[in-house]
Amino acid sequence: MSNIKPEDFFKNIISHSKEYGFIFPSSEIYDNGLSAVYDYGQLGAELKKNIRDYWWKAMVQMNENIVGIDSAIFMHPTTWKASGHVDAFNDPLIDNKDSKKRYRADVLIEEHVAKIEDKINKEVEKAAKRFENFDAAMFRSTNTRVKEYQDKIDAINERFKTALNANNLDEVKQIIVDLEIVCPISGTKNWTDVRQFNLMFNTSTGAVTDETNIIYLRPETAQGIFVNYLNVQKTGRMKLPFGIAQTGKAFRNEIVARQFIFRMREFEQMEMQFFVKPGTEMEWYEYWKQTRLKWHLSLGLGAEKYRFHDHLKLAHYANAAADIEHQFPFGFKELEGIHSRTDFDLKQHEQFSGKKLQYFDPELNQSYVPYVVETSVGLDRLFLSILSSALKEESLEGGDTRTVLSLPPALAPYKAAVFPLVKKDGLPELAESIMKDLKFDFMMAYDEKDTVGKRYRRQDAIGTPFCITVDHQSLEDKTVTIRDRDTMKQDRVAIDKLHSILTEKTSLQSLLRKL
Ligand code: GAP
Repeated sequence: MSNIKPEDFFKNIISHSKEYGFIFPSSEIYDNGLSAVYDYGQLGAELKKNIRDYWWKAMVQMNENIVGIDSAIFMHPTTWKASGHVDAFNDPLIDNKDSKKRYRADVLIEEHVAKIEDKINKEVEKAAKRFENFDAAMFRSTNTRVKEYQDKIDAINERFKTALNANNLDEVKQIIVDLEIVCPISGTKNWTDVRQFNLMFNTSTGAVTDETNIIYLRPETAQGIFVNYLNVQKTGRMKLPFGIAQTGKAFRNEIVARQFIFRMREFEQMEMQFFVKPGTEMEWYEYWKQTRLKWHLSLGLGAEKYRFHDHLKLAHYANAAADIEHQFPFGFKELEGIHSRTDFDLKQHEQFSGKKLQYFDPELNQSYVPYVVETSVGLDRLFLSILSSALKEESLEGGDTRTVLSLPPALAPYKAAVFPLVKKDGLPELAESIMKDLKFDFMMAYDEKDTVGKRYRRQDAIGTPFCITVDHQSLEDKTVTIRDRDTMKQDRVAIDKLHSILTEKTSLQSLLRKL
């Protein structure tokens, strides 16, 4: 937002979300709500549904070899033993003894590294201003100061990776001490030891609670796909390579749940497990990295806002993993994970269930456990990435400003709003008849209150791509004006052309065709 200080921008997104009915803190009437849990309001639910639909259509409808399922949140508890989540789905936590605040040790270290990266970026920016035909890559590899910073980052990352892989929590603490990381609240280095904390929520089934009937709220939707692998493969007569997709709620007892809907305790994932012949997984891993990046770029929010980040520490199930990071208002952070999960999950489920989860390969005339490449994106995080890139404060001619949410039209909650210029002379009736006709295919808004200028502003702020105004000329020649949210340009068009204009400009098809 041009006129707003960066530190206020994020607060602005949160207040805008609330003011216009996108997102509310959950059960807000009680003590301002439940920490790290949010509700989607009337416009948020629409935007979220449209994002989910776009993902679903791009993954399932557009790929004959990918099918979708909807598995339950509750799963047999052994699922989580087999998947490794009971034993290994932990975050290293550390407390500051003075502020009594709890942090993720890995996040403290990553934030320290990010500060050094910022210094590098500043050096590059400074040099770019000084030299014509500036070659950033060359500068990064030759400038002494930048190289020193980069060496520091590499050394920290290497030490941290070694400590985590060896589960050496004393060493993780020592890294925090050696880097002289201070608590942002107390400003002190008075840290406790680092401990592991399991992120799964649990509850129990039946009337009596004991060890035997504990069940977990799924921390990822992926396991619902793995346990159904054979059901889907057999009933759908699927041949490798093929994918199973699903969207649904996941739950994690996050230690540090802040940054609005970026890190929540209850959130929604959109995941796809792609089953492949062993040995071909790296090809598919690269394919899905590029395919998913292309999907994000199709939203048109700016290619510079996305980058890949290869994982230093691989999850217990992966042999390669990368994140697609997005530039959120608080910096580049993980948006989507692409993981090559090997045959880990299916083999574990075979072992723990005693059931074979294999594929009979007719070409090789042999059975084997397929390898898996996973794409996993958080719907709420995606929502935040879109909302924060779309929200703008624009200066207009004449010194005026407007708040505009430049959402991709296909994702916008309302596709168009219909206004009668005045509330008399038969204009509302004509406006309502246009509305009635279009609402079979498009989410439409109707507004007859205040000046047309104010009505435009209200629709700009919620991202409605088109405003259709019915005026006196409309009664005579069956035309209306249609105003484009982004250019603010108005065209006069025939009423019977509105349907095709909205289809061309606002349907998901327009996005799907870019893929
Ligand atoms: N099945 C693999 C898996 O769950 P992950 O990297 O832990 O991998 C995948 O999560 C995605 O889910 C992340 O990239 C992020 O978008 C989203 N996500 C994870 N934890 C989240 C949280 N606490 N709140 C919101 N989104 C979250």
